[in-house]
Amino acid sequence: MKAVCWQGVNELSVEQVPDPEILNAQDAIVKVTASTTCGSDLHLLGGYIPAMRAGDVIGHEFLGEIVEVGPEVSRHRPGDRVVVCSIIGCGRCRPCTDGMWSLCENSNPKPGLTDLMWGGSTAGIFGYSHAMGGFRGSHAEYIRVPFADYNAFTVPDGVDDMDALFASDAAPTGWMGADLGGVRPGDVVAVWGCGGVGQMAARAAMLLGAERVIAIDRYPERLAMTARHVGCEVVDYTSTDVNAELRERTGGRGPDVCIEAVGLEAEGTGPQRIYDGIKQRLRLEQDRPIAVREAIHACRKGGSVFVLGVFTGFVDKFPLGALMNKGLTLRGAQQHGQRYIPHLLDLIARGELKTSHLATHTMTLDDGPRGYDMFKRKKDGCVRAVFRPWI
Ligand SMILES: NC(=O)c1ccc[n+]([C@@H]2O[C@H](COP(=O)([O-])OP(=O)(O)OC[C@H]3O[C@@H](n4cnc5c(N)ncnc54)[C@H](O)[C@@H]3O)[C@@H](O)[C@H]2O)c1
Ligand SMILES: [Zn+2]
Ligand SMILES: [Zn+2]
Repeated sequence: MKAVCWQGVNELSVEQVPDPEILNAQDAIVKVTASTTCGSDLHLLGGYIPAMRAGDVIGHEFLGEIVEVGPEVSRHRPGDRVVVCSIIGCGRCRPCTDGMWSLCENSNPKPGLTDLMWGGSTAGIFGYSHAMGGFRGSHAEYIRVPFADYNAFTVPDGVDDMDALFASDAAPTGWMGADLGGVRPGDVVAVWGCGGVGQMAARAAMLLGAERVIAIDRYPERLAMTARHVGCEVVDYTSTDVNAELRERTGGRGPDVCIEAVGLEAEGTGPQRIYDGIKQRLRLEQDRPIAVREAIHACRKGGSVFVLGVFTGFVDKFPLGALMNKGLTLRGAQQHGQRYIPHLLDLIARGELKTSHLATHTMTLDDGPRGYDMFKRKKDGCVRAVFRPWI
């Protein structure tokens, strides 16, 4: 079958790879009908995620049709239209049964690769390096889905493919930031980043009752899209002092909840960006925590900061003093999608959550490298490039 493969830093190619097969009794094979780019893939492409190998199939946010099931799959059968969580849970271990699916103890067969760096490992993640299990990704014609009863969700009739697709990753990630960030009715919430994840976090905060939601980015098309489709306030960080602006809009206190949806390749204005850029190149720090620092600084006393953006290792100039003295709560996680996807599909079916506007560009798998180039450079207003192998 055809697949988009990682070949090295900023190098992708479309290759023929073997078709996936059922390996375990709880596996299903899914014919991929739509698979989209995510900001996390840019970190792979940029060479920041360790343990990638030339030829690895990438992609983790996808939707498709079940074509084959293992003997222990009971909730799905061939023909089901399913959206699959980007993170793989076993459904039975302690973290999975506690709803912390991305901490699954069983789905990542290579936990030792991150034990040294993090003192622990994440769940398996589709198409996301050998440190996250070495699973083949979804930018392919077919994919093997382990523990299919827990990771594949039947899409209700009446929900369009292009809406359901983002219930795989962007929407549950955003929802988790607002939920575990502790958004309460009446709160003011600030979100850094107006990519797919930031937009979904902003919408989740609104649906959870936030009184004001302010989203921050620099790209005019993304800011306009967020204002229009999410319906929140927006701030261009290149034309104003974000901290001062947030103080101004919160009566001098700062936002109650700050959600970071930018990650390790954060941009910024001023010397901070140069400082982090040099340190990252020299491998003196792995990640550029520009938006995390800003969120911690801006957050009101006693507030909470949730890091949705992906980080890999060590960062410099982390404002621990602000965190400690202001009594902040800091959390982060890979997404626990399984606990949110059914509710999100319901919200999408009711029209309360709009997602399909994120799919700014649709193309075939052959266009994989071109799609990633557009997405990486934010060309032509690209927010997500969606590959549809069978159209
Ligand atoms: N926690 C999870 O499970 C999970 C899931 C999906 C994605 N992610 C991560 O979330 C992050 C966002 O993903 P995405 O798909 O929306 O990516 P994206 O690249 O489409 O969007 C990131 C946005 O951040 C903006 N940005 C950069 N620097 C900024 C700054 N200093 N202040 C404000 N905005 C800034 C960029 O302009 C861009 O629009 C990535 O790091 C991705 O890896 C995490
Ligand atoms: Zn993702
Ligand atoms: Zn588990």
